[in-house]
This record gives sequence, C-alpha cells and structure tokens, in this order.
Amino acid sequence: MQIALIGIGKIANYQMQAITHTEGIKLVDAHDLDSNKAEELPGSVQFHNNLDKMLKKSNADAFLVSTPTSTHFEIAMQVIESDRIAIVEKPLCTSQSEMDALLTAARTRKLPLYTAFHPAYGREVDWWREQIDAQNFELGALLGFESCFADPYYIDGKLTLGAVGKAGAWTDSGASGLSALARLVDPESMSLVDGRMTVIPSLNCAQVQGLGIYRFVENNRMVYGMVDTNWTLGKNYKTTRLRYENGIVELDHAKEAAHLVLEGQEALIFNLATDKPRLVNHYCGVFADLTAMYAKGEDNTRLSEALHHLLFDALNC
Ligand SMILES: NC(=O)c1ccc[n+]([C@@H]2O[C@H](COP(=O)([O-])OP(=O)(O)OC[C@H]3O[C@@H](n4cnc5c(N)ncnc54)[C@H](O)[C@@H]3O)[C@@H](O)[C@H]2O)c1
Repeated sequence: MQIALIGIGKIANYQMQAITHTEGIKLVDAHDLDSNKAEELPGSVQFHNNLDKMLKKSNADAFLVSTPTSTHFEIAMQVIESDRIAIVEKPLCTSQSEMDALLTAARTRKLPLYTAFHPAYGREVDWWREQIDAQNFELGALLGFESCFADPYYIDGKLTLGAVGKAGAWTDSGASGLSALARLVDPESMSLVDGRMTVIPSLNCAQVQGLGIYRFVENNRMVYGMVDTNWTLGKNYKTTRLRYENGIVELDHAKEAAHLVLEGQEALIFNLATDKPRLVNHYCGVFADLTAMYAKGEDNTRLSEALHHLLFDALNC
C-alpha cells in the first residue's frame, strides 16, 4: 500500500518512523502548508506545495491527514471529494454533524474511510487483550473501569506548546481513552450516563478537562466506567484500571506497563516497553492493521462511528 501524508508535524515524525518498520506500506508523497517541512522528509518522498495538485497527481492509495484537529474535517472532506481514500488522525472531526457529513460523503462515493486510533495499539492494551483471549488469569467478570488521560498542556493559567494542534482535553484524549477501551469492551454496547467538561472561554481550546461516564451490560450486570481527560494536572499520566471480580488490572499507557493484582496475591508488574518510542509502537500497530483492512477491502468506519458517538454525546451534556 502506498500512502501520502498531509501535515508534517510532531505526530507525522512518529508515523514516518513506524512506516519504515511496517511491511507492506510505503510513504510516497507529502504536503504541508509550511514548505520548510519538506526538509523533514526522507529523500524518497516527494513534497507538494499544493494539496489539490497532490490529490490529482499522486499514485498513493490513501492520504493520511495529520494536521491540527480543527482542520481534520475540511481536509478529509477535500480528500474524499477528490475521490481519494482518507486516513484521518483521531479524532476524525469535532462534532456529530461533521462526522455524519464525512460518512455520507465517503459512502456516496463507495470509498473506505479510516481513523487512526493509535492508543488502541498500545503494547499494554495488546498484552491484556492476549491474556484475556488465552484465559491466562482467572479474574472473573468485569465490574467497572476508570481511565485517565492527562497531559501537561495547561500550566500557570496558560496553554503550553503541547496543546498546539489539539482541539481540547476531551476532544483529543477522550477519543484516545475510548479507543483503548474498545479493545476490551464493545463500544456499541456502551451508552453515556453523564459528561462533564471544564471550559475556560479565554483559552484557545475547547476544554481543559472532560469526563465521560458510561454504562454497559456485562454478564447480566450493569457495569459503569469513566474516562477522565485532563490538561491541568501538570503531568503525562495515562492509565486504565479495570476492576474484575477477582482482582484489578492497571494498564499504564504512558509507560507501556501493566500491573495485575489478583485477590490475596502480590502485585505482578509487566514491563512491555521496547527500544522504540511508545508512539512508534502505536503507529506500527495502526499501519499493520490499516494494510490488512485495505487488502481485504475493509475499513474501521463502524468502530469510528461508535467511538465518536460516545465522544460527542459527552460533549453535548
Ligand atoms: N503530538 C502528539 O503527541 C499527538 C499524538 C497523537 C495524535 N496527535 C494528533 O495529530 C494531529 C497533529 O498533531 P501534531 O502534534 O503533529 O501537530 P503539529 O502542529 O506538530 O503539526 C501539524 C502540521 O500540520 C501543518 N498544517 C496545519 N494546517 C494545515 C493545512 N490546512 N494543510 C496542510 N498542513 C497543515 C502544520 O504546518 C504542521 O506542520 C492532531 O490531530 C493531534 O491531535 C498528536
């Protein structure tokens, strides 16, 4: 599969590294509003000043949108309206009406549409999914979950440089937390109980903190869980705690580690990090899955639709 990149910023750097580690995918073209970004591309990748021209001329099979979140909708729509396939960095867009318009545009043209949910491919998430599938621990039924995705993007009353390109704590990290959970709980079985957002009107972001409380039925029992996103804690802290009948599993998404506490036993610690940066590991998973879906003529629109429903429902409380 050949792809082209739109937006050569921080995340694109990790994406380009992951592409070099993933079989079956190659970066051929790239575009950024800032032509100085061409210097960050490998020699084999052609830089284009004009997106429209790249969409017309490129031999790429799909176009990866890695621009600031506020531009995803417009650029993804431009890709689709050019009859080309879009892969969009999460979140796909920032409202339900934008989501509906993108899905309609892609379906009308019978084009697949992919969302890159990189946190779902965390090594700790893969690891716990494998333990569940192999039934390696007897934890019993899931009783609830609590997920926190915090970044130090609001310090001393101001947004930090890390917030550049992001829409807001909930809009960006809510999509991250929900996509990791979706590997463990069917998002189509979840519904919103409550959403609580902290909005500071003087700041150029949608919210600095956001919380979504969800419920779903597991083994005939109503289960509750919450996803908390926060830019005000002053730290990079990303953890999901899953409470089961016979113990607790804590997935540390920032450190690529897992803690397992079985009732009455010592905690077991699993360090799952590799020599590659965490985000490179994530995008290796994204691209491996993307090439497999593309080869089968599939996309992840249904998953993306379910996750964005849960995300936007919390925003609209
Ligand atoms: N930085 C991270 O850790 C991270 C992690 C995961 C996902 N993301 C997501 O990736 C996306 C990009 O984030 P980033 O941190 O790489 O941002 P960034 O600001 O570092 O890079 C964005 C790039 O897009 C270019 N750009 C802006 N508007 C454009 C347009 N209309 N057309 C073409 N190019 C344009 C900019 O010149 C810049 O080079 C965001 O949606 C963000 O939520 C970022």
